[in-house]
Amino acid sequence: QKLNVLVTGGAGYIGSHAVLALIDAGHRPVVIDNLVTGFRWAVAEDARFYYGDISDSVLVESIIRDEHIDAIMHFAGSVVVPESVENPLKYYNNNTAKSRSLIETAVSSGVKHMIFSSTAATYGIPETSPVREDMATKPINPYGTSKLMTEMMLRDVAAAHDFNYCALRYFNVAGADPLARSGQSTVGATHLLKIAVEAALGKRDSVSVFGTDYATEDGTGVRDYIHVSDLAAAHVIALEALVADPARSHTLNCGYGHGYSVMQVLDAVDRVTNKKLDRKMEGRRAGDPDSLISDNRAIKDRFGWEPRFDNLDQIVQHALAWERRLTDIQSA
Ligand code: UFG
Repeated sequence: QKLNVLVTGGAGYIGSHAVLALIDAGHRPVVIDNLVTGFRWAVAEDARFYYGDISDSVLVESIIRDEHIDAIMHFAGSVVVPESVENPLKYYNNNTAKSRSLIETAVSSGVKHMIFSSTAATYGIPETSPVREDMATKPINPYGTSKLMTEMMLRDVAAAHDFNYCALRYFNVAGADPLARSGQSTVGATHLLKIAVEAALGKRDSVSVFGTDYATEDGTGVRDYIHVSDLAAAHVIALEALVADPARSHTLNCGYGHGYSVMQVLDAVDRVTNKKLDRKMEGRRAGDPDSLISDNRAIKDRFGWEPRFDNLDQIVQHALAWERRLTDIQSA
């Protein structure tokens, strides 16, 4: 069954990869994006594009009607943890209040399915690593709280209305489309691998290593890096599962179930480029847990999701290929 899917934030990093995955799977994505952090050129040519805000219920309602939308993939939002600490109300507006508006418009317009971009930040400092979905959610920053509140709204709306959802809790998303059709293009990105490939291509002088005294093997923070295309594929499977069984909703981790330290990530970039990144050892960044690893058995068991790019060097290769492409796009 070919589905018409409204992709909010489809001009952003993960949303643009979901658009590609939907097209590759034979579905029809329709993008809405306000282009605050996304780029019009990041949206695949085959996708219909609407410029606007998800809180504009008149616009969203007309898109849902005109495009016969069956389901919504909701990526639009703000994602920088330290910024959420300095400006919490921005996060409670963009991630919580605007999601409330979008969910309301969906329900009142008869859209019955939503896939939501949630985050491992909902766990805070996890009780255990790997962390399972039924473990306590105690976010330690407004970003995590703003996403957790949306999960709660979805839960309550699904109980009250003819509506089901899948909240996917992302771990550390990295890499780029293997065909270099999209990638991480965010200006002023703070994510480790993005910074490392920028440095590898001479766009930065060095990479800071935040904290060398964590309770990990080499003392640097360990994260579960997941290739963005595997994550996008999980969204397509979730979409099909929501439609196949409308009585069931899901909250699932998206990660590989194992991690790499900051040093191991930088070593991988060195290996792939055959160069040596200049590493600057610095103090810990506020709010960083030692280690954050997913237990991914639930998404594998329930959806039969299997990663295709669970290989750090390949993630680095794809990120580098995109970073080179991005240089060309930006100078064109
Ligand atoms: N790090 C460095 N140097 C840098 C950037 C990061 O050493 O220049 C380290 C961090 O301290 C951390 C690891 O690299 O140990 C990964 O940091 P990122 O900033 O790449 O990612 P985070 O783990 O902080 O955050 C990610 C997502 C958030 C999400 C969080 C928890 O970006 O949206 O995972 O799921 F909330």
